[in-house]
Amino acid sequence: MPSFRHEKIAVADKPSFFITTPIYYVNAAPHLGTAYCTMLCDVQARYRRAVGYDVKFLTGMDEHGEKVAEAAQQHGFATPQDWCDSQAPLFKDLWQKLEISNDDFIRTTEPRQNHAVQYLWERMRESGYLYKGSYDGWYCVPEETYFTENQVKKSDEEHGTKGEHLCPDCGRPLERVQEESYFFKLSAFQDKLLALYDERPDFVQPAFRMNEVRSFVEGGLTDLSVSRTSFDWGIKVPFDEKHVTYVWFDALLNYMTSVGYGVDSDEARAELAYRWPAQYHVVGKDIIRFHCVIWPAMLMALGEALPEHVFAHGFLTVRNAETGKAEKMSKSRGNAIAPQDVVDLLGVEGYRYYFMTDVAHGEDSAISFERMEQVYNADLANSWGNLVSRALNMSAKYFDGKTPELDEGWAKKDNPLAAIATGICDRYSERMDVMDYVGAKDVVMELVHAANHYIEDTAPWAVAKDPERAGELKGIIVNLLESIRICAHLFAPFMPETSAEVLRRMSLADEADADDLAAACEWGGLAGGVEVTKGDALFPRLASEKK
Ligand code: MSP
Repeated sequence: MPSFRHEKIAVADKPSFFITTPIYYVNAAPHLGTAYCTMLCDVQARYRRAVGYDVKFLTGMDEHGEKVAEAAQQHGFATPQDWCDSQAPLFKDLWQKLEISNDDFIRTTEPRQNHAVQYLWERMRESGYLYKGSYDGWYCVPEETYFTENQVKKSDEEHGTKGEHLCPDCGRPLERVQEESYFFKLSAFQDKLLALYDERPDFVQPAFRMNEVRSFVEGGLTDLSVSRTSFDWGIKVPFDEKHVTYVWFDALLNYMTSVGYGVDSDEARAELAYRWPAQYHVVGKDIIRFHCVIWPAMLMALGEALPEHVFAHGFLTVRNAETGKAEKMSKSRGNAIAPQDVVDLLGVEGYRYYFMTDVAHGEDSAISFERMEQVYNADLANSWGNLVSRALNMSAKYFDGKTPELDEGWAKKDNPLAAIATGICDRYSERMDVMDYVGAKDVVMELVHAANHYIEDTAPWAVAKDPERAGELKGIIVNLLESIRICAHLFAPFMPETSAEVLRRMSLADEADADDLAAACEWGGLAGGVEVTKGDALFPRLASEKK
């Protein structure tokens, strides 16, 4: 039997942390919104590795369904598969460029997904929650979602032709679909889902999103059409080959496929037991129902464990120049900003810092190039970059290219910076654990700002003039370097290359991959008497704001 495995089972001496992005539709190149969601996961994955988890971070592409088949046709490709193959490098290359540390990249056209989905069909049939019928209703191709007559909106001509049926979510015209179909008995799970939300209030995060999910379920659930017969770009239903799997029924399973679902080997079963359930599915708020209603119901029907958390982020929006209104950035609206434009402005690390620490992750956020520059200049050029450059310069200048060695009896911990650094890892982790990256950044920036003030307060350049105060000068520089070392560790999930570079400049390259963040953040870890490299400015100030 083929194994469909990508990777070897992890040696389970660490707890598993399994985090996933949605798999992206292959209808156009990835944009800032897509990258945003992937980056949210990357920061969490890097953080969890740093605190000792064995992380599996999964992303990938959702390649089936009408929307992708249409895109292939529009672009003149002979088959949807050719189209998807042409797009895969765009996603993979972008993730590499943006320092995305995914451990797996799944494509729903891979044999492992085909195998898992067919296995799912068999299990669903055995479960008794599947029946054959016919679907007669509305379908939104851009959203790949079914809508009942009561849910649809009628056009008032603003968007479509008068009287046309429009998608209640995205406002685009709906397709009338009449076809034979298999149905999943979603309606049987209403009580069980409500009980789940009661028992596990943190299943949906941030908490305010739970209300939306709950009221949707309380409003009553209709059975879900899970196969299609009017087109064929999908995974065949094993026992009825004129049906192909509804794209969401296929896509949701990717999370389990990637950890061995349905593979008949001891290795795969061990991996599934180790990795499943996932700790986090990170998704946009538009697909929360699929992840918090349909997916848990599917898992309940299969008798599988449910993911621990679904974290729903808001949209990145841009201002429509004509209407002045904030609009979701999207490929189909044509208002998508290419990630490369931001990389050109801020560099990859500046890009990551801005999107991860200046955007409140539960809400929609308007983004602008002006704000990006402001944040970059204030936080990175003037504060963090400046601190590193001043402290390393002084260390190199006053101590012959080395980090200073403290004199005997110098009270290492008796200084304002050590006081702030005490417990900093706990304060930071409290925020990171719940994906409050803005809060986590504030914790680190407190130390950065304090260190910059400390330079002004202690005026090391004046102390250096007095040979009698040599011990004091060493103390000041050590305090600064120690603070920088700790900040580099805490910033690493956001700006991994900058942090690695800062540690390299202090001859601490080995620390960059440490997996005990709390220990790394203990005051006193700096090596004395080792080479220090001044290096170039980490974040050269952006010129355009100067005007
Ligand atoms: N293929 C489905 C997901 C299947 S997961 C089992 C899908 N794909 S998508 O490409 O349309 O969207 C993927 C994700 O990108 C969604 O979580 C969506 O919210 C997110 N974003 C798309 N545009 C976005 C913004 N403008 N801002 C933030 N996230 C955005 O849905």
